[in-house]
Amino acid sequence: MNDTIKQYEKYVMPTYNRQPVTFVRGEGCYLHDARGNAYLDFTSGLSINNLGHCHPAVVKAIQDQAARLIHTCNLYHTLPAAELARLISENSLGGKVFFANSGAEANECAIKLTRKYGRDLAGKDKHRIITLEGGFHGRTMATLTATAQPAKQEPFRPLLPGFTYVPANDVVALADAMDDSVCAVMLEPVQGEGGVHVLSPEFLQVARELTERHEALLVFDEIQTGLGRTGKLFAYQHGHIIPDIITSAKSMGGALPIGAAVAAPAYSDVLSPGMHATTFGGGPVPCAAGIAVMGELLKPGFMERVQGLGIFMRGQLEMLANEGLVESVRGLGLMLAVDLPHPGAADVVSQALEQRIILNNTSEKTIRFLPPLVVEERMIEAVVEFLKTNLEV
Ligand SMILES: Cc1ncc(COP(=O)(O)O)c(C=O)c1O
Repeated sequence: MNDTIKQYEKYVMPTYNRQPVTFVRGEGCYLHDARGNAYLDFTSGLSINNLGHCHPAVVKAIQDQAARLIHTCNLYHTLPAAELARLISENSLGGKVFFANSGAEANECAIKLTRKYGRDLAGKDKHRIITLEGGFHGRTMATLTATAQPAKQEPFRPLLPGFTYVPANDVVALADAMDDSVCAVMLEPVQGEGGVHVLSPEFLQVARELTERHEALLVFDEIQTGLGRTGKLFAYQHGHIIPDIITSAKSMGGALPIGAAVAAPAYSDVLSPGMHATTFGGGPVPCAAGIAVMGELLKPGFMERVQGLGIFMRGQLEMLANEGLVESVRGLGLMLAVDLPHPGAADVVSQALEQRIILNNTSEKTIRFLPPLVVEERMIEAVVEFLKTNLEV
């Protein structure tokens, strides 16, 4: 055990099962340990390093902004926040943005906004929020309550009142749960932490119809699916269902902490001064990094390349399925997963690390792939080759 790992054990709360490796440098699709070994990263810091590690445009934007202005607090205006808000708004719902520091905080804003919307419309009785079983929305108390996974919630009860859970893709259960006391339905278009489950277009359609009928808001948590991960800037843009609010975070700041709740124009002024705030939100440095990220994502051909790579990788994984090495292949764009025929996904992830490939498992049967969006076909082939050699029928 190296000194860094020993220091973690002594001084850092044990809330993560960390792999036994210490990284000191990142470049493109590779992370490097202290001995100079390069690891092919197919997790992207859990969909943070979507442009790869230390992308030159992001590094430059951070360096330039850090030398100019790092923080003012939200009592003043700064150029980077205004520009990043414009870029996000004009390329999504067209309304206004609240900047937070993380995904959970972006969702907290969405939850508060929908509760306030319900209260404005019908008083305190329009407050219920429906979320989906197996979903993941964060670890703060409100977002943990929205995260319908009993094992994650159990130690922290009592949770917030007013949340109802329904099974994903179950239109009957959703219809049964809906009434005029609902202020929002909140869902991930592709459930990420829950194991990469794509919601069906029919379910999204019904969610849209029911929320309209009951004057509730439809919130898409695009924290994992957003910013190009599925081959569109936001996953909702694959179909024709337009949510009222989206939340985004993860790769937004090119790996600096920033998140955002984006409201459609009709709901952009629901929260007024003093109702919601966060001291660091929309700071000049993460916003400058975010502008650089958006600049790369909006380059002609970028999303088409991600779509092409997603199809390529899916095809490669399906070959493993044909050989009986994996049971099923799921996902959208470069957000993919396979189910193993039997438990052992954590062992596969450990074996991969030994062979300098970084993978992630969401359960004992599911391996999830979140490669940087700048990945190359040869890297995908290397990972599939590893799986082919190391998976057992
Ligand atoms: C869909 C989704 N929502 C919310 C979150 C929480 O984001 P954060 O960890 O930045 O608070 C995550 C994190 O994995 C996520 O995948």
